[in-house]
Amino acid sequence: MLSVSELNQRHGISGQASFVQDANGFVMVKVTNAQATACIALQGAQLLHWAPAGQQPVIWVSDRAIYAPGKPVRGGAPICWPWFGPHDARADFPAHGFVRNLLWELVRVDALPDGTTQMALHFPAQNETTEQWPHDTTLDMELTVGRCLKVDLVTRNQENQPVTVGQALHTYFQIGDIRQVRILGLEGCPYIDKVRHGERHVQEGEVRFDRETDRIYLNSTRDVVIEDPVMKRRIRIAKKGSASTVVWNPWVEKSAAMKDLGADGYVRMVCVENANAADDVLVLPAYSSHHLEVCYTVEEEKP
Ligand code: BG6
Repeated sequence: MLSVSELNQRHGISGQASFVQDANGFVMVKVTNAQATACIALQGAQLLHWAPAGQQPVIWVSDRAIYAPGKPVRGGAPICWPWFGPHDARADFPAHGFVRNLLWELVRVDALPDGTTQMALHFPAQNETTEQWPHDTTLDMELTVGRCLKVDLVTRNQENQPVTVGQALHTYFQIGDIRQVRILGLEGCPYIDKVRHGERHVQEGEVRFDRETDRIYLNSTRDVVIEDPVMKRRIRIAKKGSASTVVWNPWVEKSAAMKDLGADGYVRMVCVENANAADDVLVLPAYSSHHLEVCYTVEEEKP
């Protein structure tokens, strides 16, 4: 593991990308360019901030988030891999897999000619996860910071047999008020309602929130838009390589029960997660790879 000064020497870009370590020991890369600002933690390769220039932050992090080695941070864009939700067979394995809790390696940071900043991160194989995942696979992420935020999550199966992988980019978006946002683009999609014992329904019209919501939408490949009348903006989420979208808001009681969220923690966040989950879990053929790609953009209402 390189120190912060070694990371800055090798990968820092003057005025554009610098590495810092916070009081809890979290190492992060801070990006500033003419198009946007961003911050990515090496633990979990977790995006913690992104704001297009002149705009409000798009990514939400709880103000009660706990930054501790090996623990998931509440907010940002955690990566769930190689399973989504609880493990099928082992309740003692971490929810949403282990890569969000462990350190990734920084491979490169580049200033691209179009003015964006791109970085590549690699999840290193480690002995402590072999019991949980006895497979020969690799996981890499390329993240591009600009007016759009792009993520390309690449899983490679190096085995001579298929491997089943569940995954999600579990992004928490900053919103004005959960009671007023509308999610468009899921109309007509079947969904699994995790709040109602996994019942299956079909989405009629837009998604609105007036209670705990925890759903896996299937056949969801279109753009999804978060329409936010309070912040006067629309967040557009485009994707490839994913046919499921998870929508989550814990609402009042669950939020109050989570110490890294707190009583009113649910009001200004909504998770819209581009996934390969449930019926859409990946079955990666031998020696093949898969790209889960997302692109976030923001359209602000003109005053
Ligand atoms: C969502 C799940 O993706 O993540 C929810 O659908 C879960 O069921 C939520 O509660 C948060 O998970 P965690 O492990 O970060 O608390």
